[in-house]
Order: sequence, then C-alpha cells, then structure tokens
Amino acid sequence: MNNNYLVEMKGISKKFGNIQALKDVDLELLPGEVLGLIGDNAAGKSTLMKILFGAVIPDQGDIEIEGEPVNFNNPADAQASGIAMVYQDLALFPNLDVAANVFAGREHAKSLLGIQFLDKRRMYQETSKLIERLQISIQSSRLLVERMSGGQRQMVAVARAIGFDAKILIMDEPSAALGVQEAGRLLDLISHLRDQGLGIIFITHRLTDILAVGNRVMVLKGGQRVGILDVKSSSLDDLESMIISGKPVLNNAAI
Ligand SMILES: Nc1ncnc2c1ncn2[C@@H]1O[C@H](COP(=O)(O)OP(=O)(O)O)[C@@H](O)[C@H]1O
Ligand SMILES: [Mg+2]
Repeated sequence: MNNNYLVEMKGISKKFGNIQALKDVDLELLPGEVLGLIGDNAAGKSTLMKILFGAVIPDQGDIEIEGEPVNFNNPADAQASGIAMVYQDLALFPNLDVAANVFAGREHAKSLLGIQFLDKRRMYQETSKLIERLQISIQSSRLLVERMSGGQRQMVAVARAIGFDAKILIMDEPSAALGVQEAGRLLDLISHLRDQGLGIIFITHRLTDILAVGNRVMVLKGGQRVGILDVKSSSLDDLESMIISGKPVLNNAAI
C-alpha cells in the first residue's frame, strides 16, 4: 500500500443481519486534507467511520494508519493510533464545565501526602491552551456546557475529541443542528485544524459546506463507493448527481 496515506481502508464490508451496510469499500485520507463523505441516508457513511474509530468491527477489509496495519477492537485502540471522532449527539456532560468535559475519562491527578487529588489547575491551564490553539470562541475553560450555544458545544466536543495529540479527526454531521453563523465558525475551525496538519473526514448533508472547506469528496450509495471528486473542480450539481445516480462523474480525484 502507499505510505503517503494517513488512512487507507481497503475492501471494507459489513453486514448487520441481512442488511449489507458496506460492500468492498476503499477510502484514502491524505495528511492535511479535508475529505468529505457524502451520500443518502443509509448509504453506510456512519458505519464506515465507526469502523475506522473501532466502534464497529468489519466483516472484511484492512486498515492502515500511516502505512501500518491496524486492528481496532474498540475506540480506545483507535484513539491510541491518533484517531478522534465527534459523534452527532456530541455526548457531552452539560452540568460540567469545559475543562471537565475536555478531560473526562483522562483527568490529571496529583498526589499529596499519598492521597490522589484532581489537578484542576493543570486541567484549566491546558484547556485554555487548547482553546487558544484551536482559536475557538469560548471565553473560559470554566464555563458550564449547559450555558453554551449549540455551536460552542460543538467546539467543546471537537476540543475533547482531538485532545492534544489526534492526527485524524472524524466528524459525523457536525453542522446538522447549527445556525448559519455557527456552522460558519465550525467550518473555520475545520480549515484551521487542517492547516495544522490534521487529516479530517467530514460527513455532512450540507454539500455547500464540503465545497467550502473540502479538498476531496467521496460518495457512497447503498454501501458502495460511487467515486471520489476533487472539490476545486466540482459543482453542487456534480455532487448531487453522483449521490442520486450512484454513477461517477468525470473528474477523478482518486490518488
Ligand atoms: N447497529 C446496527 N444494526 C443494524 N443495522 C444497522 C446498524 N447500524 C447501521 N445499520 C444499517 O446499516 C445501513 C447503513 O447505515 P449508516 O452507516 O448509519 O448510514 P448513513 O450514516 O449513511 O446514513 C442502514 O441500512 C442502517 O439501518
Ligand atoms: Mg449517519
């Protein structure tokens, strides 16, 4: 396989009972690119990404991360390989503040007289640094998530997912519930993360979002890969026609 890929998925198939959710699907992600993943409902988008995140185990197929074969049995395995995923429902703790959400499940502790305490100061400091690095519009790492707008919650979910060391970010319909302005901020964050070298896979129904920030876009239909387009030379019509017809248009961005 080609070692330039950040992610290479080859021949991925998955059945749920009688439903063939994915059939022989390939996907390649380059470092520093935003790859859109689009297709009708039930096309298999979420399943493909859950497989990459170790949350669903494929029946067949291989995955390589930076040229190394991997076998993920759970999301912790995928996270250890630098993969982060933001689910549609975000799964935040609304009654906790930003720092507590960012560090949920991986809290810093300190020991005093042999007793373990949470190192809150360190978590607030590191969260503030992360907010700064991501250039996200959250005033304080002490804000309660339940006081935040949908867009800000999305930012917290991204901050938590990528933590400090993810190199691959998967976002499943992140802009679906956001207003226009908030969705715009999210797209800015995606471009910013891409500029920092992350590879990002972005599932959305909002095709204009892909045209705005995507480098390439891959279309799935009925669990199969229809094709992959270069965003620069694609129109909204091209994307729509591929989603609907299930046939590739001639602008091939396969690499
Ligand atoms: N856990 C599951 N159990 C049974 N069927 C599932 C499960 N997850 C997904 N499916 C089915 O697999 C197909 C692909 O679903 P999904 O990957 O969620 O598509 P998309 O995200 O493109 O809408 C659908 O027919 C869906 O109903
Ligand atoms: Mg889905």
